[in-house]
Amino acid sequence: MIAQLGYLGFDVSDLAAWEAFATGVLGVGIAGRGPEGAFSLRHDDHAHRIFVAPGPADDLAFLGWQAEDEAAFGAVIERLRSAGVDVVLGTREDAARRHVRALCRFRDPGGLATEVFHGPEPSPEPFRSDLVRSGFVAGDLGLGHVAVAAADQEQTRAFYCDLLGFRLSDRIVADVHGYHADMLFLHTNRRHHSFAFGARQDKNLFHFMLEVRSMDDVGLAMDRALRAGARIMHTLGRHPNDRMFSFYARTPSGFQFEIGWGGREVDDATWEPAVHDRISEWGHHPPAMLAPPRKSAPRPGTEAG
Ligand SMILES: [Fe+2]
Repeated sequence: MIAQLGYLGFDVSDLAAWEAFATGVLGVGIAGRGPEGAFSLRHDDHAHRIFVAPGPADDLAFLGWQAEDEAAFGAVIERLRSAGVDVVLGTREDAARRHVRALCRFRDPGGLATEVFHGPEPSPEPFRSDLVRSGFVAGDLGLGHVAVAAADQEQTRAFYCDLLGFRLSDRIVADVHGYHADMLFLHTNRRHHSFAFGARQDKNLFHFMLEVRSMDDVGLAMDRALRAGARIMHTLGRHPNDRMFSFYARTPSGFQFEIGWGGREVDDATWEPAVHDRISEWGHHPPAMLAPPRKSAPRPGTEAG
C-alpha cells in the first residue's frame, strides 16, 4: 500500500543556516520557495522532497508516505478509519502545497504528524549536484530513511505493519555509549528501512538519512560538514543491519543527519528479520573517543610511553 517515504517537513529556527547547510553540506538543491522564507529541497526525480519552514521547534514537523496509487491511497484511508484512526482528508490547497495530487493526515501512535499521499509532482529535469557527483539513491526507494521517537514499541509496530503494510526488517538492542537502545527497523520497499523508531529522547526526529551512490561522496560530505563547522556525532562506520557505510553530524536544528553509501536491499521472499546486539559493525564512535581528554599533561619525552 505504501510505496516509499515521500517527503519530510522540518520546522527550523534558522532558515539561512539551513539553506547554507542543505546546499553546501548535504549537496541537495533548492526546489522552490514559499511564504515567510520557507523553501523546499530536492535530490532526485521528485520535484520536492524536504519542506523547510520557519518555526521554533527545530524538529520534524510532518512526514509524508507515498501510496502506490490512487486505489492504494483510498485503501489506506479506509483501513485507518476502520481501526478508529482520525483521518482528515487534505484540501486541494493542502495537496498543492505539498505538490501532490491528494493527501490525508493523521497522528501515528506516538503523535507524529503523518500524511499519506499519492501522485507526487515529478521534476521537469533530473537532479544534478556539483557537490554530490555520483547522485543520490532515491527515486522508487524513497527519499532516504528517518529514525524517530515512538511512545510504545509494540503499538507503533502494529500500527505501521498491520495497518499500513510495512514489514519488519530487524531490531537492534544494544548499549550505545552509555544509553540503552532498542530500535525497530521497518521497510516498505527494497530499501532496508525507510522508518526506524526507538524510545523518546528530546526530539521527534533522531536523524534522517540520505544515501549517495559512491563511497567517496560520503567522505566528501564529511569533509564539507567539518569545514562548515557541523558537529560530527558519529564517525564513519558501518551498521550491521542495513550494512550502510555512513557518518552522522548535527543539522542546524540539533537533530542529526546521516550520509550513507552501500545500503542493503531486502527481498521479502527470502528476508528473515534478525535481532542485532550492536548498532555498528565498526566505527560510528562519538568524536570524543578520537582524542580522549588527558587527566594531566604528559611530561616531555614520555609521550610514546
Ligand atoms: Fe540511519
